[in-house]
Amino acid sequence: MKALVLSGGAGTRLRPITHTSAKQLVPVANKAVLFYGLESIAEAGITDVGMIVGDTAAEIEEAVGDGSQFGLKITYIAQERPLGLAHAVLIARDYLGDDDFVMYLGDNFIVGGISGLVDEFRGNRPDAQILLTRVADPRAFGVAELDPSGQVVGLEEKPDRPKSDLALVGVYLFTPLIHEAVRAIEPSWRGELEITHAIQHLIDSRADVRSTVITGYWKDTGNVGDMLEVNRMVLEGMDRRIDGDVDTASETIGRVVVEEGARIVNSRIVGPAVIGSGTVISNSYVGPFTSVAENCRITDSELEFSIVLRDSSIQGVGRIEASLIGRHVEVTPAPSVPSAHRFVLGDHSKVQITS
Ligand code: DAU
Repeated sequence: MKALVLSGGAGTRLRPITHTSAKQLVPVANKAVLFYGLESIAEAGITDVGMIVGDTAAEIEEAVGDGSQFGLKITYIAQERPLGLAHAVLIARDYLGDDDFVMYLGDNFIVGGISGLVDEFRGNRPDAQILLTRVADPRAFGVAELDPSGQVVGLEEKPDRPKSDLALVGVYLFTPLIHEAVRAIEPSWRGELEITHAIQHLIDSRADVRSTVITGYWKDTGNVGDMLEVNRMVLEGMDRRIDGDVDTASETIGRVVVEEGARIVNSRIVGPAVIGSGTVISNSYVGPFTSVAENCRITDSELEFSIVLRDSSIQGVGRIEASLIGRHVEVTPAPSVPSAHRFVLGDHSKVQITS
C-alpha cells in the first residue's frame, strides 16, 4: 500500500495568517501540520509516499526532504496548477501503479493518527473508504448523505444547502478502481476535478464505498479559535522535556518542553507549553496551552493560551491571551506621548485593544 499526500495548491487560499507560504506548514505545537500527517502514515506501516507539490514546492521539499526523517521514501510529483484533488490522482497514476493507497490532504490534522483506519481497510478491502466528521458549518467541505443504515448515498462538494452535518475529512482509502472514476468525471463549477465527484461516480456504479465517522479532526478554515484549540489538544498530550537552558531564577511547571538552544531567564513557564529553539524568554510568564516557535524574544510580558510563530518579539506589553501571532511580528509598547495606538497590520489581521 502507498500514500499520496497532497501538498500543492496555489498561495491564494492560505489562511489565517500566511499568505505567502505553504498552508501545510502551519505549525501546531511548533510542528508543521503536514509532519503529523507524515508521521501517522509511517505509523500505519506505509513507507512509499508520493507527494503532490505546486507553487510552494521549494518550501515543502526543504522541510520534508527525502522523507527519511519520518522513515518514509518520498517521491515528489509536480502539479503545474491546482486543478483538483482528483487531478492529483490522475497525475500520480504511474507512481501509484496498481497499489491500494491512502490519499492524505496535507493541511488536514487527525488526532490519534490513521493506523486503525488503514488496518480496517486492509482487512475488509472495500472499493473505497471515506472518513466523515460532524462540523458546525458543512458548507466549507464536501458533505455526505447517509441512508438510515449508515450507507453513503450521496456526496456534494461545498453545497449551499448541506443535506447533513457530516463533512468529508481529507483522508481517503482507495483501491485502483478510483483511477477509472477520476478519468470519467468533468471539472466542477470551480474548474477543479473533484475527488468528491469521483467517489460519487463509484457510488453510482454500485461500488462498495464505506464510511467511518471520526472525532478529533482539524483543518485550517481561518478560524483562530479552532487553531488555538487544536494546539491546546496536542500540547496536552506532550511529555515534559527540558533540553534548553533554564536559569536558577526561573521555574518550569508541569508538561513544559524547552527545546535545545532556547533560554529561559528569570521567568515562569506553566505547562503544557512549548518553547522553540533559539527563543529567549526573559522576565516573563508563559502560561498553559502556549506554543512559542523558534527564534522569538518574549521580554517583560505575559502570554497564555496563544501561538507565536517564529522570529517574533513581544516586549513589555503586559498580558496577551488567546492570540495568534505570525512570523517576524513585533509587539512593543507605544511611546507615552502622544498617547495613541500604532499599527502595521497585514491582511485579515484582527486586533482587540483594552484602552
Ligand atoms: O479538508 C477536507 C476537504 O478537502 C473536503 O471536505 C472537501 O471535500 C475536499 O474537496 C477538500 O476541500 P478544499 O477545497 O478545502 O481543499 P483544498 O483546496 O484546501 O486542498 C486540500 C489539500 O490538497 C491542500 O493541502 C492543497 C492540496 N491540493 C489541492 C488542490 C485543489 C493539491 O495538492 N492540488 C490541488 O489541485
